This record gives sequence, structure tokens and C-alpha cells, in this order.
Amino acid sequence: MKRAIYPGSFDPVTYGHLDVIRRAASVFDELIVSILNNKEKKPLFSLEERVKILERATADLPNVKVDSFSGLLIDYAASQDIHVAIRGLRAITDFEYELQIAQTNRVLSKEDLDTMFFTTSLEYSYLSSSSVKEIASFGGDISKCVPDFVADMVYDKFGIVRDTASSGRITNE
Ligand code: PNS
Repeated sequence: MKRAIYPGSFDPVTYGHLDVIRRAASVFDELIVSILNNKEKKPLFSLEERVKILERATADLPNVKVDSFSGLLIDYAASQDIHVAIRGLRAITDFEYELQIAQTNRVLSKEDLDTMFFTTSLEYSYLSSSSVKEIASFGGDISKCVPDFVADMVYDKFGIVRDTASSGRITNE
């Protein structure tokens, strides 16, 4: 059985992540989307919230499981007996960072963990969780960036309500 891990912060998951998840899930028998529990970062969504969001967003993909991990990815991958990590590449700017992580993981794991890259679909190549949070914090429209239920949760965090009656305009509470 071919299995892979898609690690990330997913704070929150975007359509770009979901595009990679869908495509990786069609290549592997099982894909574990695993959220890094990074105690040094202060995420917008708690780990528990991010797990729930990802479970809901991937509910239609039976071979996708959601999990979380702390510490090194190579240790988590070994504990799951998985030898492939998935990452998305949006643009050349991602490449240097991703190449460094992939090579570090390959060396650290003594060639036990390889990384496979999916190039993000063009329509999502501009998307990032950080920009989604920034846009939402100013009441901007994130409907093309994340699923509707995620957008509601993001706006909620910033105390912003969507006025759906007037074509999705955003108003401050
Ligand atoms: O979504 P992100 O924040 O770009 O994901 C980064 C992630 C989680 C893939 C990366 O930070 C990671 O794997 N962290 C775990 C710690 C680790 O293994 N570090 C060694 C590689 S440099």
C-alpha cells in the first residue's frame, strides 16, 4: 500500500492546500494530512480546530486521514512507517525553502524520507494562509481562497460578520 504524509501548519487550510490534497490522494492509496503542533508559533486556530477544519474539508476523500505531530517530521514519518512527504510548490519563491527542507529531511532520515512536490494549480498559485488571515483581518473577501465554512470561522476570529444579504459585503461588528 502506497502511503504519504502531507505535513504543514494549515492555519487555515486554503483551496491551494485542498488542491494538493486531492491530487496527492489520487496518486497514493492513503494520504495522511498531518498538522505540525509548533509550540513556538501562535496560530490563529488551535491544533484541535485545525484538525476539525481539515477533517470537514476532506470528508469527501475516503483515503485521506488527518493527524498532528510535534518534533521532527522524519521521526513522525518513521513512526507511521511512511517514506514520502508531499509538499506544494506555488512559485519559484517557494523552491529554495522547500528544497532545503526536502534535502535536510533526506539526509537526516538517512535517505528514508523523500519529498514529492505537486505544483499548485495556477488559479491558486497566489494563495497563502498568511494572506488569507491578513485579508480577512481587514474585512476583505476571502471567498475565493478558502471553503465557505472556513471563511466564516476566520472572520469570526477577527470579530467580523459577513453581510450576505448585500452581496457578501463585510462589515465590522
Ligand atoms: O505549512 P508550513 O508551515 O510551510 O509547513 C512547514 C513544515 C511543517 C512542513 C515544516 O516546518 C516541518 O516539517 N517542521 C517539523 C520540524 C522538522 O522536521 N524540521 C526539519 C526540517 S528543516
